[in-house]
Amino acid sequence: MKRKIYSMLLMGGLLLSSAVLISLTSCNKTGPAGANGSNGADGVSATEACKACHNPSVVDRVAAEFQMSKHEYGIAAEEEAGSTSCGPCHEQEGFKYVCANNIPSTITWDVGTGKYVNNYTTVAGSAYGAIGCYTCHSSLHTTYGYSDMSALTSVAPVAMTMWGGNKIIDLVQSGGKGNLCVKCHQPRPLTVSSNSRLFPYDSCVSQPNLLVYDTNNTALAFLKPGYRTGIHYGAAGAIFSGKGGIEFPGISYASSDHTTAAACQDCHMAPITGKSGGHSFFVKGNFNGCNASCHSDVSSSSTGKWNTPRNNIKGLLATLAGKLTQNGIEIMNKNTDSETNLWYGITTSNYDGYLNFYDPINNPTGETENAGQFKNLSTSSSWTAAQIAHNNTLPRLQLSFAQFGAIINFQLCLREYSCGIHNYNYSFALLTNSIAMFP
Ligand code: HEC
Ligand code: HEC
Ligand code: HEC
Ligand code: HEC
Ligand code: HEC
Repeated sequence: MKRKIYSMLLMGGLLLSSAVLISLTSCNKTGPAGANGSNGADGVSATEACKACHNPSVVDRVAAEFQMSKHEYGIAAEEEAGSTSCGPCHEQEGFKYVCANNIPSTITWDVGTGKYVNNYTTVAGSAYGAIGCYTCHSSLHTTYGYSDMSALTSVAPVAMTMWGGNKIIDLVQSGGKGNLCVKCHQPRPLTVSSNSRLFPYDSCVSQPNLLVYDTNNTALAFLKPGYRTGIHYGAAGAIFSGKGGIEFPGISYASSDHTTAAACQDCHMAPITGKSGGHSFFVKGNFNGCNASCHSDVSSSSTGKWNTPRNNIKGLLATLAGKLTQNGIEIMNKNTDSETNLWYGITTSNYDGYLNFYDPINNPTGETENAGQFKNLSTSSSWTAAQIAHNNTLPRLQLSFAQFGAIINFQLCLREYSCGIHNYNYSFALLTNSIAMFP
């Protein structure tokens, strides 16, 4: 799918540095011709310089590994192209733009619109480009030497967009390479419906009984929940760093050793095995990273270091989902389709972190998957009269701040995918303390 035309250029034998002759002219008169300059030293043959990377064991090998990465085969970059708000994480040029211009993650008041605005966006001229080598490797083809490989687009601390920049993630180990991943693999902010200000997350802890959405007085709504309401997908970066969850009182929020001792690439770019590791960026079934220098015996059959911790987190997710109900109807959505549910198989009930609202367009199988659904608070013009009538028969969900905080924690701990391997202590505390809110 990627054009490979560089071999043609290589054959052309272009020289990297060759002597350049410049004739100087005075302001308005042409002076006599100067003597010829001496020949410059021969430049390094382009072919030789290029070969440091363009050979079967470097670029060619990595490009093949990268074909197995969702960065490459995923379709989000194509789908979200043109969007300035999705661009910082989904488009190569959008990512480079927010890194190069230090775009802040703040959410600030905008006089023009009379609303708050999320500043973490790219510009329309830089809202395109699939994720590829140049997204992360910022200096390719600058000196044309192998050293161009090492510069990464950003290893700076990451101000979390979910928290309007008020929380900072800084994975200092391994030269901050984990910050490169977290810059994209981080959750997105929730905002208040009326004016788009940052959702007052702290009220989940300080005012747990306050209503996020009051079905009896919708004018008092902080946020009108819907099927997709939530933190988006990048939960891994937040959980791994031990930052960004709703920290209800209870057991300590200390992180596991991984947070400071391991870096994303240690596990995700370990020597390739099958279709995991290297530039596939997948861990799935590849324990080379675990066993490289820290552990020696981790595998999918390990009890203490794999199955027990993962089963504990799965159990807590199921317990928390069982607490998040109204009149016996569960708030967390279930989806048993392994194609559309990106978290298929993580929990026995196949939760996906979405909310169990009737939504014939976005959640067409929801009715059959969930025993009962909640009335969708915003009907769509594409719904049929029968769908609108049916929606009107469903119960309305009344959400408290405590429930909403617990939903955020559920989403974070489910959508980080590893069932606690990223940061067992943090996931364990978020889930345990959330459950304790609903005795
Ligand atoms: C630091 C490593 C490195 C060096 C040195 C290097 N390249 Fe590349 N080059 C790359 C990478 C990485 C790609 C992208 C490969 C891909 O997309 O699969 C690339 C791609 C290309 C392409 C394909 C078009 C494109 O831009 O994607 C051409 C042509 C090319 N290089 C020419 C050269 C030439 C000529 C030289 C030497 C003068 C050279 N490269 C030196 C790393 C390097
Ligand atoms: C420019 C933003 C960006 C950066 C930087 C980035 N990723 Fe990603 N990553 C994404 C996006 C977006 C997707 C999903 C793509 C899609 O579905 O089309 C993704 C997908 C993935 C997946 C597959 C997830 C799944 O659901 O199967 C893994 C694993 C992953 N990235 C790991 C990493 C690691 C490790 C790093 C750092 C070395 C990293 N990523 C850096 C944006 C990024
Ligand atoms: C702060 C970074 C960030 C922003 C901003 C962002 N996303 Fe994402 N998105 C991600 C990451 C990272 C993933 C993949 C994570 C994973 O699989 O673990 C993802 C995944 C997705 C997926 C799932 C793709 C799949 O694998 O099926 C969709 C769809 C998506 N995003 C749409 C959007 C849209 C639409 C916007 C803008 C309104 C947006 N995203 C803004 C980071 C972001
Ligand atoms: C999502 C970010 C990301 C993308 C996309 C990416 N790389 Fe990398 N690459 C990294 C990181 C991070 C490292 C350093 C890994 C480490 O230190 O363990 C790296 C290391 C390398 C190395 C040195 C290690 C090795 O395996 O030889 C090469 C070569 C390389 N990348 C080539 C490429 C090429 C070619 C592409 C495109 C086909 C590409 N990279 C795409 C993040 C990325
Ligand atoms: C200690 C090892 C380890 C480290 C370090 C680590 N991960 Fe993971 N990660 C895992 C495991 C294990 C999984 C689950 C893989 C599976 O399902 O087999 C996973 C899954 C993921 C996924 C979902 C992709 C999938 O395979 O379903 C993403 C995205 C991800 N991690 C991102 C990150 C990011 C970003 C970092 C750094 C902030 C990171 N991880 C650090 C072990 C690690």
